[in-house]
Amino acid sequence: MGSGPGTHGTTTRLAPFGTTIFTTISQRAAARNAINLGQGFPDEDPPQALIEASIASLQAGHNQYAPMSGIPELRQAIANDQARRGRERWHPDHEVTVTSGATGALAAALLGTLEHDDEVILFDPAYDAYPALVAMAGAHARRLAPPAPGFRITRDLIEKAITPRTRMIVLNSPWNPTGRVLDDQELADVSDCCIKHDLICVSDEVYERLVFTRPHRSIGSMPGMRDRTIVISSMGKTYSCTGWKIGWACATGTLTSAIRAAHQFLVFSVPVPLQKAATRALNDYGTDWDLSLSASYGTRRDLLLEGLTSAGLEPIAPEGTYFILADITGLGDDDDHAFCDRMLETVGIAAIPSSVFTEGGLGMKSMVRFAFCKPQALIQEALDRLSRLTPRIRGDVR
Ligand SMILES: Cc1ncc(COP(=O)(O)O)c(C=O)c1O
Repeated sequence: MGSGPGTHGTTTRLAPFGTTIFTTISQRAAARNAINLGQGFPDEDPPQALIEASIASLQAGHNQYAPMSGIPELRQAIANDQARRGRERWHPDHEVTVTSGATGALAAALLGTLEHDDEVILFDPAYDAYPALVAMAGAHARRLAPPAPGFRITRDLIEKAITPRTRMIVLNSPWNPTGRVLDDQELADVSDCCIKHDLICVSDEVYERLVFTRPHRSIGSMPGMRDRTIVISSMGKTYSCTGWKIGWACATGTLTSAIRAAHQFLVFSVPVPLQKAATRALNDYGTDWDLSLSASYGTRRDLLLEGLTSAGLEPIAPEGTYFILADITGLGDDDDHAFCDRMLETVGIAAIPSSVFTEGGLGMKSMVRFAFCKPQALIQEALDRLSRLTPRIRGDVR
């Protein structure tokens, strides 16, 4: 029996997305006891003080529903943190919403603002949740592909894709998986297009503190963009607690009402003890934390870059995030899925085929994404193993 409306199967809107590659690869890595440089979760724990803050909150009896929009002290801490880092000033009561991770914020933002048949511009390679959420909202993704290896976003590229139904641009800087940190010219181009065509910009900034070459700048702070931008971020990447799923969305009152209209029926509210710990993190772990985070990831970035190059791959040096895209053709491969299978099976390293981030899985077949949010020793071990991966001989179908 087929699946679809009326047959109790997955809705036709979601069926094309299948199971996320991150789940599949992590399961295969665990089964094979491989080093997992696929899914982007850090191996280390968050600071002990944050763990203690959540335990203390549980013991103090904070065990019932939080306010729908988030506990007041966390909304205040998010607003203060944005202001401290020179971003927009958001009112904690009317302009900040605490969500179930950045994913929850993205879902609420898209479901709360999009009409059926609206068009949403995405930039490939795109984080896999974006097209799925666009589909869940009954809208259509218009996927643009800035050319590798620069992945520059230009006004020209965007203008060509705009139609009367275009309603939103989803931006991700620092950008997973390219590692790009968008520069002022790109932010100005996107802003101009949003203002000219009256578009909403959803700005996913979960890697905002993980930068190596230039500071991240939020598009919400560009002239004329405050009223039309939804700034999204979360705790997971910054404080090594991806499992906590505490995120947030900052936007003006009208957009925040739309976000909350969806958020209240998606999850209603998120766990109080983890919101208490998030408050502690944002209040107590500021500039020094950010600097040490970037320094620590910078060392691992350089180690992986050098090792990938020595192994015969051609990596693109990331400006931010904890991912590196590498071209695999130097090892005789031109199919990213086949390369990832071969690498997993022969030397026990898991990575993500980059075509999964492109429309229909058809683009970027010659690149693979490696994560370096792992201990240095583990990255080194992966590189030792990778050096044993022999170039594929033409006709070899392993
Ligand atoms: C670009 C991007 N956005 C959002 C998320 C999800 O964030 P969260 O775990 O806070 O939902 C991720 C996680 O990998 C990501 O890479």
